[in-house]
Amino acid sequence: MSKDYVIVSSILNADLTRLGDVIREVEAAGVDWIQIDVMDGHFVPNLSFGPSIVEAIRKVTILPLDLHLMIEDPDRFLETFAEAGSDSITVHVEACPHLDRTLLAIRDLGLRAGVALKPETPASAVIEFLSLVDLVLVMTVDPGFAGQTFIPSTLSKIRQIHSLLEEIDPRPRIQVDGGITAETAPKAASEGADTFVAGSAILKYPEGIQAGVEALRNSLSTVTV
Ligand code: DX5
Repeated sequence: MSKDYVIVSSILNADLTRLGDVIREVEAAGVDWIQIDVMDGHFVPNLSFGPSIVEAIRKVTILPLDLHLMIEDPDRFLETFAEAGSDSITVHVEACPHLDRTLLAIRDLGLRAGVALKPETPASAVIEFLSLVDLVLVMTVDPGFAGQTFIPSTLSKIRQIHSLLEEIDPRPRIQVDGGITAETAPKAASEGADTFVAGSAILKYPEGIQAGVEALRNSLSTVTV
């Protein structure tokens, strides 16, 4: 591949009856990070995982654990998720009235800090915070559920964020999440995305997890930005 692309396996729609095996399988398949989607039923219309799942996953993998907090007032839980074994925490700009303080608090815990934007949130919402993050997550579906279809209009936002980040050193990563497949990943990469979160395209790939990861990586091998 022409760039240091990062492949991230979401576990939102993993078979939870064998979560440990799934984590070992995605690690063996060569994913770079594991993403854990935390949902509170308020910020998004779904409930998912808490710190105990992070603690459990921490015991079975050495891969970085990338927490995506889709919750109201995430400040309440930063320390809890840090102690549970997270390596990075991404919060939504829409859920943080004092985003600068939240991002600094994440970094003060020794974690990488990320900010996420829903599809309808413009890039301008995060412009003054870009020097405080290690990652910008451009959601390519409405957050809350796995298995949704990629929203093509988010491609222009990826491009906007990419140009805004050129001024920042060290340059934060651009993560995309939602409907990321071997078809949509190269489109996002062409606009500047470099970190790709996939649930269904890995965990539900017809030929299995290893083949799903390979399909994603191969789809990125021809991209030139
Ligand atoms: C949405 C979730 C999903 C999940 C990946 O809130 O964040 O995007 O990680 O799901 P897929 O890859 O199945 O769209």
